[in-house]
Amino acid sequence: MGSPLRFDGRVVLVTGAGGGLGRAYALAFAERGASVVVNDLGGDSKGDGKSSSAADKVVEEIQRKGGKAVANYDSVEAGERIVKTALDAFGRIDIVVNNAGILRDRSFARTSDEDWDLIHRVHLRGSFQVTRAAWDHMKKQNYGRIIMTSSASGIYGNFGQANYSAAKLGLLGLANTLAIEGRKNNIHCNTIAPTAGSRMTKTVLPEDVLKALKPDYVAPLVLWLCHESCEENGGLFEVGAGWIGKLRWERTRGAIVRQQNQPMTPEAVKAKWVQICDFDNSNTPQSIQESTGGILGVLSKVDSGVSTNHTSHAAPPTTSGFASAIGYQLSSFSCAYTELEAIMYALGVGASAKDPKDLKFLYERSSDFSCLPTFGVIIAQKSVMGGGLAEVPGLSINFAKLLHGEQYLELYKPLPRSGKLRCESHIADILDKGSGLVILIDVYSYSEKELICYNQFSVFIVGSGGFGGKRTSDKVKMALATPNRPPDAVLTDSTSLNQAALYRLSGDWNPLHIDPDFASLAGFDKPILHGLCTFGFSARHVLKQFADNDVSRFKAIKVRFAKPVYPGQTVQTEMWKEGNRIHFQTKIRETGDIVISNAYIDLVPTSDVSAKTLSEGGELQSTFVFEEIGRRLKDVGHEVVKTVNGAFEWHITKNGKVAAKWIRTICGMTLRTCGLPCDITEGSRSEEEKTSVAIRRPRLAPTHAIDLKSGSGQMYQGPAKGSADITIVISDEDFMQVVLGKLDPQKAFFSGQLKAKGNIMLAQKLQLILKDYAKL
Ligand code: NAI
Repeated sequence: MGSPLRFDGRVVLVTGAGGGLGRAYALAFAERGASVVVNDLGGDSKGDGKSSSAADKVVEEIQRKGGKAVANYDSVEAGERIVKTALDAFGRIDIVVNNAGILRDRSFARTSDEDWDLIHRVHLRGSFQVTRAAWDHMKKQNYGRIIMTSSASGIYGNFGQANYSAAKLGLLGLANTLAIEGRKNNIHCNTIAPTAGSRMTKTVLPEDVLKALKPDYVAPLVLWLCHESCEENGGLFEVGAGWIGKLRWERTRGAIVRQQNQPMTPEAVKAKWVQICDFDNSNTPQSIQESTGGILGVLSKVDSGVSTNHTSHAAPPTTSGFASAIGYQLSSFSCAYTELEAIMYALGVGASAKDPKDLKFLYERSSDFSCLPTFGVIIAQKSVMGGGLAEVPGLSINFAKLLHGEQYLELYKPLPRSGKLRCESHIADILDKGSGLVILIDVYSYSEKELICYNQFSVFIVGSGGFGGKRTSDKVKMALATPNRPPDAVLTDSTSLNQAALYRLSGDWNPLHIDPDFASLAGFDKPILHGLCTFGFSARHVLKQFADNDVSRFKAIKVRFAKPVYPGQTVQTEMWKEGNRIHFQTKIRETGDIVISNAYIDLVPTSDVSAKTLSEGGELQSTFVFEEIGRRLKDVGHEVVKTVNGAFEWHITKNGKVAAKWIRTICGMTLRTCGLPCDITEGSRSEEEKTSVAIRRPRLAPTHAIDLKSGSGQMYQGPAKGSADITIVISDEDFMQVVLGKLDPQKAFFSGQLKAKGNIMLAQKLQLILKDYAKL
């Protein structure tokens, strides 16, 4: 059953807590450690009169049992005063249960203005006033739980309760919006529609039923929804007699009753009426984006050629219109998983018990059970799938046109086999690609305080571009072209017809991948496979081919989604090895279509790359920095070349004197032998070279060239192939100090730690080349 749900240190305000349901909530919260404000006006059930005794009695009862409570006798319309009672008595406000209520039942025809207004003032306006008074406090403390009390009468209607049912369903609308607005501040708002015996129901329920339907059968739901561990937000629940059920909206598939360039007529509506009302194959829209997205889709279907992007509804956003969106922090969330989810994911991306080497991903008792590295995207995916983008201010775009464009994932250590990771995400940038708009969402996932992985989701909104924004950004994790030669390895796997049905169990519930009607509305012949499923297949192939399924060798992956895949097709991953970077692209064998392009996986070298181990081993730490510089030049070299424009030659020394001889040796070598001093057979050398080599044979090449003169630049071992603009001599240790930002290159020059020959002015640009590598 787990540990008891406690509320120690929490301050709870329950309105209308002098009797009935409110009293039960107040007692239950106090019993579990909360400090409670018992609010009650103390009038009769029609809203007439007032008295302090109702609230006082409940406060006494709580205190008698050793709990903490204070009374407040204001009407809920005085929200500020009620919240002030909480702040004065307990210093904060964490939970608000809007419960106070009255009835003024009349048939609709006899409902007076007063009957209507009073009901709305107590239920709807009262809940608004109390909640608004608490809202800023909750936002500041980044925590809040709110309950709205609706009623079956509001949900379904009830004879004689027009005023009451209107107000009660109004509360649901209020709660739905608060759930969206509060999400990023960890403020959750849920709605209940209770049934319980109280003075309110005593005129409508027989005595014995009244007694049996105890308020205590409702209170536990309220407590759970208000607990800090409950992630439910925006839910609506019916509750009573010990039963609880959740409600949602259901929508028929509906029918299009209009044709292009033809007037829409009531006759056409009548003709399609059965279909419009047919709940077979219905769907359950969960957000306004889902709801209106389908409707906007109809526009393009009927009026092909008519733009359905936002520009047909509103003025196009400008770059400055997105200013508030860039950098916006989305609500943080947690992702908890066990071996079960890890295994389900592995099955979803094609791991198979047929291959004994896959067992480590499928069998939790394997001695080396591991979570596939690409499960890292599952941990973070809620940031784009939870409707979170809808909360971003200034992002008025049509989410029905959203495509997953690219994905980057980097792991800082292997994913734990189970755990709970906290994810922080923000909008890194927004780009204008003309035909569409790209939103970059950066997600960082932590276990406690340790950063485990980083994701960059790149989503493309078709038709929303052309607003005059920038095309590129330094925030983008670049996709890279594959080498222009036949692949070094190819692995294939057939996906099953149930692949999408299996993969969606890992949390991507988009009906596009399972519902034929939805897929057809989106313009596909049938449901398509998740892009991230194909991504998982390909990453598995690379890991298997080049890292023997060793998850600790996985460092990062970048892919571009190029075309859809249908369940049942055969995916074929073509791979090129370039050092520790494996470039790849994924094709469909049956069609030859490239479905993932410009992709790569970076592997951790088999030899440990940590500088610590290297220095312990006596090898050159700088070599690995150069390798990394070389790798990154491929991504950002173009920009660096523009600013630096020079060729550098580096001579790295080790252990002072001995290395100095070695440098002279290298300088004396011909181009043919340079850069590979350790591997060259002595027979191929001139006498002079042999003598020099005999002096010292280092295990790693200590000379490197960084050519930043054209294209994306180049980094290679050995001296500069053309003439170097500047030649730098520096010890391995001092080089690392410069890289780590601990030694200023200019100071090193003046102190003699760094020797430079040639265009000395270029030395000033050293930091530009090295500054990004400090995190190594
Ligand atoms: P109740 O009448 O026992 O409790 C309502 C409490 O609210 C009373 O103590 C009353 O003094 C207080 N109150 C009324 N107006 C107030 C105001 N302006 N300011 C502060 N306090 C005020 O009724 P019950 O059954 O406990 O109802 C609680 C809530 O549950 C109400 O919102 C009601 O509409 C709702 N509800 C109850 C159902 C039931 O089966 N009992 C069914 C559906 C909804």
